[in-house]
Amino acid sequence: MLFRQLFEEISSTYTYLLGCEETGRAVLVDPVLPTWQRDLAAVRDLGLELACTVETHIHADHITSARMLKREAGSRIAGPALDRLPCTDDPIEEGVPFRVGSIELHALHTPGHTDNHFAYVLGERVLTGDALLIDGCGRTDFQNGDAEALYRSVTQKLFALPDDTLVYPAHDYQGRRVSSIAQERGRNPRLGRGKSLDEFVQIMRELGLPYPTFIDHAVPGNRECGTCPPDVPAHLQRYCEAMSHSPQG
Ligand SMILES: [Fe+2]
Repeated sequence: MLFRQLFEEISSTYTYLLGCEETGRAVLVDPVLPTWQRDLAAVRDLGLELACTVETHIHADHITSARMLKREAGSRIAGPALDRLPCTDDPIEEGVPFRVGSIELHALHTPGHTDNHFAYVLGERVLTGDALLIDGCGRTDFQNGDAEALYRSVTQKLFALPDDTLVYPAHDYQGRRVSSIAQERGRNPRLGRGKSLDEFVQIMRELGLPYPTFIDHAVPGNRECGTCPPDVPAHLQRYCEAMSHSPQG
């Protein structure tokens, strides 16, 4: 399987490109609207065809390019069945492998950041979305977030994966790209080092994070699989516009 980690700098999001060399089909996990052209070019530069996009959850910090890629490349839209979005073509369920060629995603329902959040195990990797970040985790104060649920998702499902499973998060704000289950279990300051549920809940309660900049536009836009709502103010338009992209070669 081909694997690429792509970075979108406005929301510091990692998009993952998965490619099946036998069938020439590719998947983009958590693609972001401003970089849709770059991501599609990355797929095509590998000689692949984009079969589908997959979401880990309904994002609050960016708009997905799922709808744009469906329009431009004919890809299907996949995401957690629990979200029941009418625009989803292929609802993904825990316990049912999601296959594209030889690519096989095993979905884990990992609520807490959002109620319907999924992580995807992919062989020796896990795409953890916002449930588990490198030395951190997603916030739990919006979108039916629940610190107790996130603690259970991470400690019971993600930390139960083999030590050497590579952790690929949906975001990093300091340029870190990959970790492992053993590393996060051992040193994640919020959830690792044997932190108790009560300690974690207190940490999350005391974060004092500001109201998310783009949430009021991103969530309705993502509930439609990636439309930019008409009321996005000028200073946030960069979240909706395609970044200039120079094709390689
Ligand atoms: Fe998120």
